[in-house]
Amino acid sequence: MKIAIIGSGNVGGALAQQWIKAGHTVLVGARFPLSDKNTALASIIGEDRFTDVASAVAQCDAVLIASPPTAILDIIESMGDVSGKALIDATNAVRQKPEPYQTVYHALVDKTGANVVKCFNTTGFENMLNPDYGHVRLDMFMAGDSDTAKDLAEQLAKDAGFENCYDFGGADRVELLEQFAMAWINLAIFQKMGRNVGFKLVRR
Ligand SMILES: NC(=O)c1ccc[n+]([C@@H]2O[C@H](COP(=O)([O-])OP(=O)(O)OC[C@H]3O[C@@H](n4cnc5c(N)ncnc54)[C@H](OP(=O)(O)O)[C@@H]3O)[C@@H](O)[C@H]2O)c1
Repeated sequence: MKIAIIGSGNVGGALAQQWIKAGHTVLVGARFPLSDKNTALASIIGEDRFTDVASAVAQCDAVLIASPPTAILDIIESMGDVSGKALIDATNAVRQKPEPYQTVYHALVDKTGANVVKCFNTTGFENMLNPDYGHVRLDMFMAGDSDTAKDLAEQLAKDAGFENCYDFGGADRVELLEQFAMAWINLAIFQKMGRNVGFKLVRR
């Protein structure tokens, strides 16, 4: 699969590495493709993967959004036509809303004709780089109204090493999924458990 990553920081960088390992073609779409901030990632995945946002998106069928939530209107403008593509929103707007929207998911649905899913937001980037805890692999979660985008997100979660990707429900569960991310932030950071903790669903 050809995947464009918009936002090459902690989350975008981790998933870029995992998806390349899984055999996908990954391009990074950036405002400043070979800036100092991108040097470390470029030395791992290759400078030739870095381009501008519009060019990365035009060449790919799937797009990961891993930017600050407040950048989304600017990113939507930079992406160009994304109708028919799958957009994966990994952002959390729990502390910073992309006004006038509640979440980036809602902005993407309103402003693009794309298939949108919220996924890869409920755990720390270290867990995206390595979801394997030896005896168990972490799970991922997703929400949104597009079955097409959900099928793709589920596959990409498994390709990144997560054991399962569970469906939280439709667009009316997107904010709940962001609250779930807040639960991870609470445990890892505010309750001082550390960032090497993650969610696993068990059932009987
Ligand atoms: N950190 C985590 O563990 C974690 C986990 C789950 C979800 N999240 C969510 O994922 C998102 C990204 O977090 P992060 O920690 O990866 O952030 P980060 O390391 O600060 O990276 C953000 C990236 O977004 C890019 N960016 C900012 N404005 C942009 C624009 N207008 N156009 C294109 N690119 C732009 C930045 O590039 P330049 O500034 O160089 O252009 C940078 O590469 C956030 O919404 C966060 O809440 C984070």
